[in-house]
Amino acid sequence: MKIAIMGAMREEIDPILATVGEYTRTEHAGTVFYECVYGGHELVIAYSKIGKVFSAITATVMIERFGAQKLLFSGVAGGISEELKIGDLVMASALCQHDVDIVAFGHPYGFIPEGSLMIDTDEILRSLASEVAIDMGIDLYEGIIATGDQFVASSERKSWIQQTFNADALEMEGASVACVCQNFDIPFFVLRAISDTADGGASEDFDAFLKTSAAVSATFILEMVKRLEN
Ligand code: ADE
Repeated sequence: MKIAIMGAMREEIDPILATVGEYTRTEHAGTVFYECVYGGHELVIAYSKIGKVFSAITATVMIERFGAQKLLFSGVAGGISEELKIGDLVMASALCQHDVDIVAFGHPYGFIPEGSLMIDTDEILRSLASEVAIDMGIDLYEGIIATGDQFVASSERKSWIQQTFNADALEMEGASVACVCQNFDIPFFVLRAISDTADGGASEDFDAFLKTSAAVSATFILEMVKRLEN
């Protein structure tokens, strides 16, 4: 089975490329796609660049041009839930876009007509992740991830996102990738390791913990790949 693994930033896929061994490199639509065989699967790996638009382009190309049949996202997030500390892993149960605002027309925040406010991730991939977590002795948190084209570094914005969407973590790509996968009917999974807590010190923490947290997420994703059935 062909599996897409994507991140948003180079740092999020570097630990994956460093582990998979030999790969080929193809440039398309402003992005580099790496292909290899790992754990008995063909992989296509890429980082999209930050944000909803670039991540939607990359996910679409992985599916339409590279034939990905499942998509796994690996990266970092800002923690909202008090339970999430830097380095902890959170898998999305569902994702939403916290920056969508057409409330002037009577719609709730995050809702686009003919779309859905929350997009659920694939249940089979989530239960595989739960098994991997047990076997690796890792606490895997499950919760709602809110996505927007904003680096959140304020307690006020963070609380608003928590209250409006009941979100546990936030980042800048998951919901757009979810939207692409939902539209192409591709099972997908979003995993994030916490790099910061999306408040006053977020940018300093992000810089300090991006690499280590990205590596935590990447290691877990590759363990999932090894256990995926063909
Ligand atoms: N990804 C990691 N931390 C983030 C934050 N604070 N805001 C948005 N995306 C993030």
